[in-house]
Amino acid sequence: MNPTYDFSGQVALVTGGTSGMGLATAWAFAEAGAAVVVSAHNEEDVAKTAKALTDAGHRAIGVVCDVSDEAQAAAMVERTVAEFGRLDMAYNNAGIQVPPTDAADETAADFDRVNAVNLRGVWTCMKHELKQMRRQGSGAIVNCSSLGGLVGLPERAAYHASKHGVIGLTRSAAVEYAPRGVRINAICPGVIETPMVADMLETQKEAMDEFLKLQPIGRLGRADEIAQTVLWLCSPGASFVIGVALPVDGGFTVH
Ligand SMILES: NC(=O)c1ccc[n+]([C@@H]2O[C@H](COP(=O)([O-])OP(=O)(O)OC[C@H]3O[C@@H](n4cnc5c(N)ncnc54)[C@H](O)[C@@H]3O)[C@@H](O)[C@H]2O)c1
Repeated sequence: MNPTYDFSGQVALVTGGTSGMGLATAWAFAEAGAAVVVSAHNEEDVAKTAKALTDAGHRAIGVVCDVSDEAQAAAMVERTVAEFGRLDMAYNNAGIQVPPTDAADETAADFDRVNAVNLRGVWTCMKHELKQMRRQGSGAIVNCSSLGGLVGLPERAAYHASKHGVIGLTRSAAVEYAPRGVRINAICPGVIETPMVADMLETQKEAMDEFLKLQPIGRLGRADEIAQTVLWLCSPGASFVIGVALPVDGGFTVH
């Protein structure tokens, strides 16, 4: 059974909120009483997700935003504040994978693409969320890293670099903003059953089988297990938690 949270009167923003862990987290925030801004780069997905939330009786809007574009990230936060008056919690989750590649053969295009979304995207969003939270003197931000932010794996150099970078951004901003009432942490999901991983299970079957053998808990994670951790990190229960890179990975990074 999951613990319950009461975020009534608070406003949550989720990037990449139309699929996988972001979608589960947007719903979890809404079910805990928060007004939710659900954001992603695909207009149709954003509209569909926001409609499902409002149809279920929740306060929600959809905002189209490609997180790699700073102007769009700034506009997303401005729209949030225009609509709901404040921003209390943000989950910077939008991210992509690139195909596994021998480090000697990685293309500059793939390196730039994965870092533009996964690293620059967290930077653009966090920067503009902080402008609002600095004004408020309060807030909680969770940045999405990965087990790829904590360990190295063959053929994953560019993706893991982007996720290691997220932890550096998180730690530095966290110590800067802790005295100002804003808590910033990172979450490091292990292998979680989402559309991103469904694709990997299909196209990289052998590598994924090997991967699963190293999974102490013996199964993949679920999106709701990540959502619950994000909610906890944003809750008063985590009031003394600053700048952590929290593995939620079934034990993968323990050995
Ligand atoms: N699934 C896993 O096993 C796993 C493990 C560790 C970390 N992660 C990370 O978790 C996050 C979510 O992954 P998921 O598995 O739920 O993925 P997903 O593919 O199911 O969802 C990704 C979301 O990000 C959005 N997105 C992609 N590019 C974007 C852009 N440029 N601007 C705005 N939004 C964009 C998509 O529209 C979608 O809503 C990612 O950062 C991913 O790297 C995933």
